[in-house]
Amino acid sequence: MARNYNIVDHAHDVIVLGAGGGGLRATLGMAATGLKTACISKVFPTRSHTTAAQGGIAAALGNIKEDDWHWHMYDTVAGSVWLGDQDAIAYLCHEAIPAVIELEHMGVPFSRTEDGRIYQRKFGGHTTHCAEGEMAARACAAADRTGHAILHTLYQQCLKHKAQFFIEYFAIDLLMDEDGACRGLLAFSLEDGTLHRFRAKQTVLATGGCGRVFESCTSAHTCTGDGNAMALRAGIPLQDMEFVQFHPTGLKGSGCLITEGARGEGGYLVNGEGERFMPKYAPHEKDLASRDIVSHAEGVEMREGRGCGDDRDYIELHLEDIDDEVLESKLPGIIETVRIFQNIDIRTDPIPVVPTAHYCMGGIPTTLHGEVVNPRLGGVNATVPGLMAVGETACVSVHGANRLGTNSLLDIIVFGRAAALRAAEIVDAEADVPESPKDCEDKILSRFDALRHNAGGENAGQVRAAMQKIMQDHFGVFRKADTMREGIDKLSALRDSIEDIGVTSPDLTWNMELVTALEVKNLCQQADVLAASAQNRTESRGGHIRDDYEDRDDDNWLKHTVAWRDEDASVEIDYRPVRLDTGRDDADTFPPTERKI
Ligand code: FUM
Repeated sequence: MARNYNIVDHAHDVIVLGAGGGGLRATLGMAATGLKTACISKVFPTRSHTTAAQGGIAAALGNIKEDDWHWHMYDTVAGSVWLGDQDAIAYLCHEAIPAVIELEHMGVPFSRTEDGRIYQRKFGGHTTHCAEGEMAARACAAADRTGHAILHTLYQQCLKHKAQFFIEYFAIDLLMDEDGACRGLLAFSLEDGTLHRFRAKQTVLATGGCGRVFESCTSAHTCTGDGNAMALRAGIPLQDMEFVQFHPTGLKGSGCLITEGARGEGGYLVNGEGERFMPKYAPHEKDLASRDIVSHAEGVEMREGRGCGDDRDYIELHLEDIDDEVLESKLPGIIETVRIFQNIDIRTDPIPVVPTAHYCMGGIPTTLHGEVVNPRLGGVNATVPGLMAVGETACVSVHGANRLGTNSLLDIIVFGRAAALRAAEIVDAEADVPESPKDCEDKILSRFDALRHNAGGENAGQVRAAMQKIMQDHFGVFRKADTMREGIDKLSALRDSIEDIGVTSPDLTWNMELVTALEVKNLCQQADVLAASAQNRTESRGGHIRDDYEDRDDDNWLKHTVAWRDEDASVEIDYRPVRLDTGRDDADTFPPTERKI
């Protein structure tokens, strides 16, 4: 039985959890249609991880060279290794063009061409003429700080539209009623420790990915996938969690992102023998092949002893041949990051890089309009009343087995907007806001109390480090059955420690030890699902590369994984079909073929 809390009650038409690009685009759209909208975030909105997105947002504007949204669609389908749903991909690529123009009109300070149009650069896996032509210039960029520019603009627009913000509030769990509908969430204010019940007609999860499941990642420390874990605890599955993207150019050591835009501007990769190795693996796209291909190639080079340095454990990214003027105007953030973290001047010296966990293609399954899907509620496409998800939290699925760079900023904008449009259709602003389900509330508070008052329990930081090491060693770029089995066994052996995580003080005011403990538990639950999903898929596809099943197997595996995690930590797996049909007259479908990019 939970202690008695004095809970502050709020009622809104819509609440959005998370203030990254997806959360803010959804918040803005919902507030603009007149819905009473609140956005709840554990960090100040402009510190959300979207601010770290560097290279650009994809849209076939054709400002630099010819382009077509159907080519963008082809690249995204092929890049997803046909695991992306083609109706969603067609929607993404078609809507990209107006979405970027809309951002421009909202005030995003894009870099410009000589004649004043939005600057666009090349990016991995983006081609023209469905990989028959040269590389496309499709990434609309604000220097190498595109996410930062978009995030600030969206926050300003949300304020303009009078959205309400609850900043530095940590969400504990979703309020689910007996019929499986979401009625809001419980959170606490980090600043004063007060507990808050946010009741809503629609709750939107926009909590980002769980990059911090890995030891080495480009993600901020806040990327703990809290929404994914809340969904799991609410009996909602995660889809395709085995597909993790390793970015080919994470800075060795710190893991900081070195944008693919650096290769888009003319940078190239070199191994320890001084060889530009990418043409061996991707003769057409070379250094601008899809990320899964480049990261895998780097891994092979290092594994076969051709890495750089005494330990042969990194690859060099060379930017010295690029004009200083281009480096300073188009990649100023990279100059700064590499100077700060490695004391290297990229104008004269190469950058040490390694494949680094960057993005979760998987997440909470949703419809094209952001509504959360839970097949346990009655059919593969059954939706959860009152619950939506957008951005990296969600799996629509547009990225399938491998996301193309710059399609993530696009995803958050297009599907954040789509969720807002859908909410405007289905939320009745005149109706009463549903009551909070009391049983569920009690259960959440008991769990919270147990952790809060577990003085002398395990240290969350140590448990996190142990879990991250397991994930890094056993579920990284190269996977195979026996090492994954060993990883799953190690996760099981860690379970008692995870359950016993405690905090030294139950105080609720700025108790970051408590926040960390909640986040680590969230991460560990996702690790279980990721590990089980990876072990289960006996093929190689996109970001999921197995040494013991080297080939893609469309006959058996052209399907989405959906995985539920039960309270005893067991993971149950089922499948959803991939939608190969766009369902529209203006877009062909692209049947699975041999991959060219
Ligand atoms: O390389 C980058 O700038 C990252 C972009 C992305 O992940 O979309």
